[in-house]
Amino acid sequence: MNREMIIVLDFGGQYNQLIARRVRECNTYCEVHPYTLPLSEIKAKAPKGIIFTGGPNSVYGADSPQADPELYKLGIPILGICYGAQLLAHQLGGKVETAPVSEYGKTEVSFEKSGALFGELCGEPGNSGCTIAWMSHTDYIAKAPEGFSVTAKTPVCPVAAMECPEKGFYATQFHPEVMHSKEGFKILKAFVNDVCGCTGKWQMASFADETIKAVREKVGSGKVLCALSGGVDSSVAAVLLSKAVGKQLTCVFVDHGLLRKDEGDQVEAVFGPDGPYDLNFIRVNAQQRFYDKLAGVEEPERKRKIIGEEFIRVFEEEAKKIGAVDFLVQGTIYPDIIESGLGGSAVIKSHHNVGGLPDYVDFKEIIEPLRMLFKDEVRKVGLELGIPEYLVYRQPFPGPGLGIRIIGEVNAEKVKIVQEADAIYREEIDRAVKEGKMVAPNQYFAALTNMRSVGVMGDFRTYDYAVALRAVTTSDFMTAEAAEIPWAVLSHITTRIVNEVKGVSRCLYDCTTKPPATIEME
Ligand code: XMP
Repeated sequence: MNREMIIVLDFGGQYNQLIARRVRECNTYCEVHPYTLPLSEIKAKAPKGIIFTGGPNSVYGADSPQADPELYKLGIPILGICYGAQLLAHQLGGKVETAPVSEYGKTEVSFEKSGALFGELCGEPGNSGCTIAWMSHTDYIAKAPEGFSVTAKTPVCPVAAMECPEKGFYATQFHPEVMHSKEGFKILKAFVNDVCGCTGKWQMASFADETIKAVREKVGSGKVLCALSGGVDSSVAAVLLSKAVGKQLTCVFVDHGLLRKDEGDQVEAVFGPDGPYDLNFIRVNAQQRFYDKLAGVEEPERKRKIIGEEFIRVFEEEAKKIGAVDFLVQGTIYPDIIESGLGGSAVIKSHHNVGGLPDYVDFKEIIEPLRMLFKDEVRKVGLELGIPEYLVYRQPFPGPGLGIRIIGEVNAEKVKIVQEADAIYREEIDRAVKEGKMVAPNQYFAALTNMRSVGVMGDFRTYDYAVALRAVTTSDFMTAEAAEIPWAVLSHITTRIVNEVKGVSRCLYDCTTKPPATIEME
């Protein structure tokens, strides 16, 4: 097998796995390792190139991660991205400073046509040497090290990219790996193929076949319990497992009372005994149990932990009823892991199915068959497994459900309000998409703000909640933009929600990108 390899050294950024994935899209094998990976191991792997990722630190911080200086002597091309770029500058004699203005989001970058990473962009008709790239930084490179030439700038950033081809060092302050960097993939491909000389012959073997085989071997004759939520990830994980171990698998669906309107019944219709799959299916109606635990709790991370922990307790109880369960299956995917900080990145949210897992889980082992995949890769696997398209393309729904779409304390009354508002919102967006009035956003939902405001209905004063509407376009859920919804559609949705949902007197539309915001509000 062709094993030309790129190593990604992880300095704690949010997009590290994404870099690996883009390299894999160049048909080049790629591994992600902590930046502390010993030099001897790096040498043994004989990579064709090394990429330093971004990270939350400043290169001048007391404990800020540094690259082993010996790396620079290996003669292997290095690409530094964001923090990685600043590290190259800092360690090789340039100057890094706090930028006068932080840059977040889409930024126009003008580049030098002679830059090795930008060569392919120049061949494009009408390309004037400018591109849109995604920035997320507070420090910047004020001066490139000696021997480097500056190959890109922004109005704020004097060194948005630099290179020293003689030594094989390249750096971009922006993130070429994210989709919002318009030509970022070409820039990464230029590094992988042109600079590192990778031939692009590596192919990812069929993930579904390999995983089914591996799971079958691991489970043997053991019993498996699957946490089924009905979302894309856990549905794909459940079908994958059912193909691997058949009736050794029991899927438990916990209705925690934080699902979208009618969703519990819909999940039962698909995965229950009347559905198309040959699964053992148990539905647990645990709504009140979750509401009781959440009473008086306002802090989002506490809510996540409580919901996650209660989930596990319910599973344990079910497992005991089934008897001798060996494995628990979860639909954890890559972004859950990265954003939970388990890969060394900063903790943004502890997703309940990863960071919030209690240590005393009563199972032999947890199986997470999708933990290496991004959402669109999970969908591909789902289609390969023959799961119907309407399920595969269902928009994602967080594990803690409406619990994190209700700002502040969660209770049954608030759940009902947000369910009704969300159902109207989704119905109207779906209609507008079908009628060709807008492009389908990748995720859209209503959330209940904790804000109450004065209104007037009929001749009466009201003091009701404001609902926040969120719709984003994204392909990887790591970065996102607010979707453009035609005004007529938004205003019709607002009228319907305030007229039809008791307890709501205002609708607000969230226009924020990710970063700096996240997709969910909590
Ligand atoms: P954020 O809000 O972090 O969301 O930008 C990125 C994607 O992850 C989903 N999300 C979650 N999924 N448990 C989950 O299983 C969680 O706690 C959680 N929080 C966010 C979110 O819906 C989006 O698709």
